[in-house]
Amino acid sequence: RTKIAQLFADVDAFGGKEITVAGWVRSVRDMKNFGFVTLNDGSCFRDLQVVMSRETLENYDEIAAQNVSAALICKGTLKLTPEAQQPFELTAESISVEGISAPDYPLQKKRATVEFLRTQQHLRPRTNLFRAVFRIRSVAAASIHSFFQDRGFVYVNTPIITASDCEGAGEMFRVTALDMEDVPRVSEKAAAESGGELHAGEVDWSRDFFGKPASLTVSGQLNAENFAMAFGDVYTFGPTFRAENSNTKRHAAEFWMVEPEIAFADLEDDMNLAEDMLKHVINEVMDRCPDELAMLNKFVDKGLIERLTHVATSDFARVTYTEAVSILEDAVAKGHTFEYPVSWGIDLQTEHERFLTEEHFKRPTFVTDYPVEIKAFYMRLNDDGKTVAAADCLVPGIGEIIGGSQREERLDVLERRIAELGMDPAQYKYYCDLRRYGSCRHAGFGLGFERLVMYLTGVQNIRDVIPHPRTVGNAEF
Ligand code: 4AD
Ligand code: MG
Repeated sequence: RTKIAQLFADVDAFGGKEITVAGWVRSVRDMKNFGFVTLNDGSCFRDLQVVMSRETLENYDEIAAQNVSAALICKGTLKLTPEAQQPFELTAESISVEGISAPDYPLQKKRATVEFLRTQQHLRPRTNLFRAVFRIRSVAAASIHSFFQDRGFVYVNTPIITASDCEGAGEMFRVTALDMEDVPRVSEKAAAESGGELHAGEVDWSRDFFGKPASLTVSGQLNAENFAMAFGDVYTFGPTFRAENSNTKRHAAEFWMVEPEIAFADLEDDMNLAEDMLKHVINEVMDRCPDELAMLNKFVDKGLIERLTHVATSDFARVTYTEAVSILEDAVAKGHTFEYPVSWGIDLQTEHERFLTEEHFKRPTFVTDYPVEIKAFYMRLNDDGKTVAAADCLVPGIGEIIGGSQREERLDVLERRIAELGMDPAQYKYYCDLRRYGSCRHAGFGLGFERLVMYLTGVQNIRDVIPHPRTVGNAEF
C-alpha cells in the first residue's frame, strides 16, 4: 500500500509503477465512458487524481455512483503528467469499495461554516480546514518536544489528579469517586423494576478521592519544580483543567499546557527560553506544513505566513507592567477608549493586551513585573516590594499565550506570602521543602498549547483547534 504523501515526496520512484492506494472520496466526476475520482488518504494535504475508464473497470458504474467520503482501494499505474496541473495521476486498473458513504453524508461539497462543523465533531477532521489545523497541531507538539529534548531537558509527566491549587484561583474541577451501586441505572431491567420509568440511583457526590479532597490539575508547575531541583532543566506537557465558567473564544475547560522549569535561572533566562521555543515551533511548522499554511493563508487569515515569517526572525518586545500601563494611559489620553478602565494595579484585560501587542508594539510582547496582588503566590517578590518577577507573553490576535515567572526561592518570603494569602501551609509543605534543601534561583512558564495553535493557524476560536473541545456546555464524546 502506498501513501499519497510518498508519491508527492518522491514521484520519480513511483512513476510508471503499479501501486495501490487506499483512501476516501473527495469527489467523483463521471463523463460516461471515463471518469475521475479524487482521493485523499490523510497522509498529506493533497489529493490523488484517479482516472478510470469503463473499458477497464467492470464495476465502473458502481464507482461512478459513490458519494463523497466513500472508502475505496484503488490499484493502477502512476502516470506522470508534468504538463498538467497535478504532476501525476493514477490510471486505475481496479477499484474496490471498502465502505460506501450514505447519501445523507452531512459534509457535502459546499463549504460549511465553522459553527456548523462544531456540531459535526466526528466528521469535521475530514474537511480541509481541520485537516490543516490538526496536522499543524501535531507538528507543533512534536516540535515542542524536539526543542526541549535537543537542549537536554527531561520530560516529566505530572499528575492530573492533585490536591493543590497551583494558581490559587479556585477554578478546579473536583474529583469524586462513584460507587458502582450509586451509578445511575438506566438499564431495561432497572426501568422495568421502577414501573417502566428510567431511574437514576442516589449518587453520593461528597465521596472524595479515597477520603481526601482532590481535583483535576490546573497546572503541572509545582510538580515540575520538584523535578527541576533534581534534573536542572525539565518540562511537562499535558492536559490541564480550569473550571472558569467563561464562554470566550480563548478559554477551554480542558486544554494542554507546556511548562518548562529551569534551575539556576532568572526571569530573563525564562523569557529567552520562551522566545527561542516559539521561534523554533514556528520554523518547524513553516518547514513541515507548507501546504496547510498556504491553505490557511488563503481562506482563514491572509496575513498568516507573512506574520509567522516576521515573528520567526525578529526580537519580541519587552516592557514592564508599569510601562505598559503608561502606554495604555497615553492611548486613553489621546482618545482611545477601553471598556475596562486603566490604572496601575488592574489585571490587564484582553483588550489591553491586544492593544499593546497589536497597536503599539505590533509583535509578540513580554510584559514583566506585575503587581504582587494580581499574581500567584509562588512568584518572586521584587526588591520594590510591590511587584513580582512575572513575564506574560502577549501575541497579536490573541493576547496572553504564555504566563511565566521567576519563582520565590527564599523560604521566609515564601512562607510569609502563603500566610498573607491565608493558604493552608500544610498543603504547601513539600513546596516549601524545596527551599530548605538546596534552594536555588529558578524560573518557568506555561504556554497554552491551544492558544499557540490558534496563533500558528490564524483560527479565531479555541473550539476549532481542539479535536474534541471541552468548553462550557460541550462534553459530548
Ligand atoms: O497564566 P497561567 O494561569 O499560568 C500557569 O498556570 C502557571 N502555573 C504556568 C507556569 O508558570 N508553569 O496559564 C498559562 C497559560 C496562559 O498563558 C494561557 O495561554 C493558557 O495557559 N490558559 C488557557 N488556555 C485555554 N483555556 C484556558 N481556560 C486557559 N487558562 C490558561
Ligand atoms: Mg496567566
